[in-house]
Amino acid sequence: MNDERTLSFDEFDEIVNPRPEECEFDRVVDRALSRRGFIGGVLAMGSFAAVGGSILPTGARAAANRFAFDSIPTSTADDVMVPAGYKVEVMVRWGDPLWSDVPEFDHTTRGSAASQKRAFGDNTDGQDVFYHDGHTLLVVNNEYTNRDILWGNNPDAKAVSDDDVAKGMMAHGVSIVEIANTDGKWRIVKDSPYNRRITPQTDMSLTGPAAGHDLLKTAADPTGTTSKGTWNNCGNGITPWGTYLACEENFNGYYSAEDENHEVSPELKRYGISASDWGYDWARIDERFDVAKNPNESNRNGYVVEIDPTDPTSTPRKLTALGRFKHENAETVVNNDGRIVVYMGDDERGEFLYRFVSDGVYAAGVDTNALLENGTLSVAKFNEDGTGEWLALTPETTGLASQAEISIHTRQAASVVGATTMDRPEWVAANPSAPEVYCCLTNNKNRGVKPNAGGDETPAAGPNPRQANNYGQIVRWHPDGGDHTAAGFGWDLYVLAGNPTVHQDVYAGSENVNADNMFNSPDGLKFDSNGLLWIQTDGKYSNEGDFAGQGNNQMLAGDPVTGEIRRFLVGPKECEITGLSWSPDRRTMFVGIQHPGEDGNSHWPEGGDAVPRSAIIAITREDGGLVG
Ligand code: FEO
Ligand code: CA
Ligand code: CA
Repeated sequence: MNDERTLSFDEFDEIVNPRPEECEFDRVVDRALSRRGFIGGVLAMGSFAAVGGSILPTGARAAANRFAFDSIPTSTADDVMVPAGYKVEVMVRWGDPLWSDVPEFDHTTRGSAASQKRAFGDNTDGQDVFYHDGHTLLVVNNEYTNRDILWGNNPDAKAVSDDDVAKGMMAHGVSIVEIANTDGKWRIVKDSPYNRRITPQTDMSLTGPAAGHDLLKTAADPTGTTSKGTWNNCGNGITPWGTYLACEENFNGYYSAEDENHEVSPELKRYGISASDWGYDWARIDERFDVAKNPNESNRNGYVVEIDPTDPTSTPRKLTALGRFKHENAETVVNNDGRIVVYMGDDERGEFLYRFVSDGVYAAGVDTNALLENGTLSVAKFNEDGTGEWLALTPETTGLASQAEISIHTRQAASVVGATTMDRPEWVAANPSAPEVYCCLTNNKNRGVKPNAGGDETPAAGPNPRQANNYGQIVRWHPDGGDHTAAGFGWDLYVLAGNPTVHQDVYAGSENVNADNMFNSPDGLKFDSNGLLWIQTDGKYSNEGDFAGQGNNQMLAGDPVTGEIRRFLVGPKECEITGLSWSPDRRTMFVGIQHPGEDGNSHWPEGGDAVPRSAIIAITREDGGLVG
């Protein structure tokens, strides 16, 4: 979500839970200035691979570039732009029916709760493709819905009926849909037995340390072991055993209380829960969302949810062992010793970066459920000297009463151990060719200005070196000894986004940013099988001031070895680009276009005066070649 017109998630939270202003202004300025010197030193080295101690041989660094395209210019058009030699087709849009007895999307009414429940959800985000038993299954998060568009047929674009509210609810969750390439074109397979909508009303189980804890018990579930539904699913992950991980991000904004002065507990406040929701009004149709009546309901969200896309009758599992926070994605790595490692960001200004390491190893015949139920959750601390460490979150280190409580109050636990406050950790991506991991730190206008929601300071330092950072950066780390379970790591910055046509200081960005490839607010991140790092943006698209010349949101590809970054795609007006996957033969790339026209100025993809619709596009090469 961008905040050009509506409040961003973070801004909403800060209004209902104001942060104290930073008072040590001089100290902050001093640190920002010393950072400039530091950055100059790092970036002057030119080879980004060398900075963090690249594990790749010298020969690989000198290899010819791996890009199969020329960088394209920025764009402000209401269309998708890709390089010459590539073509784009829209594969599935918000509201497209997944079954043949559901009506096609109606641009006048924008559907009903009943039609939306059985149609592709809104605002596509994390996605992956699974190949199972001869079937190609696309699994996509439907993060949220733009109320101005969803209810745009009503006076003042507000919900009038309960059905309007329920329609919004059913636009959230996850869509599982079989896709097939017929006549050279990818289409959804209506009525496939694999098609499924997972919504905020789908039955789920709670697993891991917190399952059954008193804080998870509600009137509807006195056992604290089940949970209804998932929403605000942002990025995703996949497991080596073929399940999908949907990550619950801004889950807090759906709770409200009739008494707008109702005070929630400090524990709920840390997660941004308050008496006011963002306007979805779910408490009107479902008492679970009344935080005065059911304060524990919100402890049952903020998790990673494991879904088996190959079994439409399976019960999704919420994984409390992976912690509760505003989960962006869940990047899963099989360590050399077979343990499962999951890297996860908490996307809010000044929150943290986490790692889960399973107790058990992944091997033939193992109970894979147990792998994501038992393990060690840690949080990252970055040192100024380019080293870092993972701090384990245990009752001993945090002072919290139990691992169950740490799984529920993860942010509080991380604050106790002194984790590094980050510039909004978005997607994490692990290089499939080398033991190194990247994370987008999308932006943080509060860096060096305000503490985080827990009162932790946010000095401009380490991997978050710029005060009032509105461009973002990508940090990467190399686990000590190439072991993803090691306590220590080395880190450097892969790129500092910026605008070299406006600034000459650190806000110009790092050396691998120039007038032809510049961008702001890196968010989605994924490696392809060739080792190129794909970067998707969710940033400012004003194309003026600090963002002059940067155009609409975009997708770029970066070479992790040389640091070179090229722009591959530019999206339509007022969208963000998020979610990326490939067909099993790697000849098609699927890309998510989220919230086109969030400010009311797009008719993509149908044009004319059509309602703008989030969609997944299929990108192929005109010569039929590989695209990743
Ligand atoms: Fe849903 Fe942090 O993006
Ligand atoms: Ca995101
Ligand atoms: Ca974002």
